Amino acid sequence: MEITRDIKYIGVNDKEIDLFEEQYPLKYGMAYNSYVIIDDKIAVLDTVESKFSDEWLENLKNAIGNREPDYLIIHHMEPDHSANIMDFAKKYEHAIIVSTEKSFSMMEQFFGDGFAKRRMIVAENDTLPLGKHVLSFKIAPMVHWPEVMVTYDKYDKVLFSADAFGKFGTNDIEDDWEHEAARYYFGIIGKYGEQVNKLLDKIKSLDINIICSSHGMVLKGDLDNYIEHYRKWASYEADIDGVAIIYTSVYGNTKKAVKNLAERLHLNDCTIITHDLSRCDPHAALTDAFRYKKTVLATTTYNGEIFPKMREFINMLCERNFKNRTLGLVENGTWSPNAIKTMKKMLERSSGISYLENCVSIKSALNDESEKQLKALSDELCKK
Ligand SMILES: Cc1cc2nc3c(=O)[nH]c(=O)nc-3n(C[C@H](O)[C@H](O)[C@H](O)COP(=O)(O)O)c2cc1C
Ligand SMILES: [Fe+2]
Ligand SMILES: [Fe+2]
Repeated sequence: MEITRDIKYIGVNDKEIDLFEEQYPLKYGMAYNSYVIIDDKIAVLDTVESKFSDEWLENLKNAIGNREPDYLIIHHMEPDHSANIMDFAKKYEHAIIVSTEKSFSMMEQFFGDGFAKRRMIVAENDTLPLGKHVLSFKIAPMVHWPEVMVTYDKYDKVLFSADAFGKFGTNDIEDDWEHEAARYYFGIIGKYGEQVNKLLDKIKSLDINIICSSHGMVLKGDLDNYIEHYRKWASYEADIDGVAIIYTSVYGNTKKAVKNLAERLHLNDCTIITHDLSRCDPHAALTDAFRYKKTVLATTTYNGEIFPKMREFINMLCERNFKNRTLGLVENGTWSPNAIKTMKKMLERSSGISYLENCVSIKSALNDESEKQLKALSDELCKK
């Protein structure tokens, strides 16, 4: 696949994989992107996941014909992009590996070889001329590992952005970028918003026509839309004006209350989404907690605390720097409801969390009293 006249796509689609990084469910597999720039010199950008070594080397061969690559640029040492460095280095003995100093020490850890004799260490704003194409490098620590860098090609105005702007899903299906890019972002990079913003600041001054991420489709056209989403996500700003209701229920009464709340909100033209943590992909729920302006957490009291799936969920939120949000809380308990207190205590780890005035405390099943609380919560959620 041609991205520009000189830049070709040589990545692979993994259609078999069910869980990315062993935890993110994949409906449409995963793409590991790799590119080659063919100029006076040839530069290969990243490798792919280990089981696709042969397919990737074949793609490369098809793109460059009888020529040999001069450089292999490594943006990120996570194995989904770096697994085939050794295979490449053995096949193309004269090629130089280009990466950050941190990457080379990771290479040594992974492969027992830091490529001392055939490496080019690059740092912020260093350049690599290939002919017409002159590449420059920007470091992007913690987007998503500490050694990450991105590459800008001034000639074709392409940013090779490593994991940034990446998404789940193979590249042979048509889907919208936003949903799966958000799930990828909040699951994998979400904790590092500050560092993502630093990268966005760095690329602001670049004239970019195309973003080539290491996962998902090549982004062209209205790049401001993608960048604006990233800016909001990195700044922990909600980008959906609505309410996410995330709940657990053992015997069904908390679920009934959630349905009741959802109906009330729906009648008030509120955009809502609900997630049952016992059944849903918790990372989809996590993503919506970050994206929706308001979130309601509803759970049962469980051994004096809260249902394990909710505990795990709140831990996931806090681990990813969940902040600056307004939450509504609903609890249920049969002898001594304690879920609201437990949730608030857990969320003390997060900064900028405020709570709606109205919360709901259910004793076993909704009654007049708790239904009144639910109505008050609904009214408060509907206020702008
Ligand atoms: C394993 C287990 C532990 C529980 N621990 C408590 C508890 O410590 N305090 C309490 O008030 N209720 C406790 N409950 C009861 C539930 O919180 C209560 O029945 C609630 O109404 C269930 O709501 P649901 O219908 O949405 O599942 C426990 C229930 C289970 C299954
Ligand atoms: Fe990564
Ligand atoms: Fe990746």
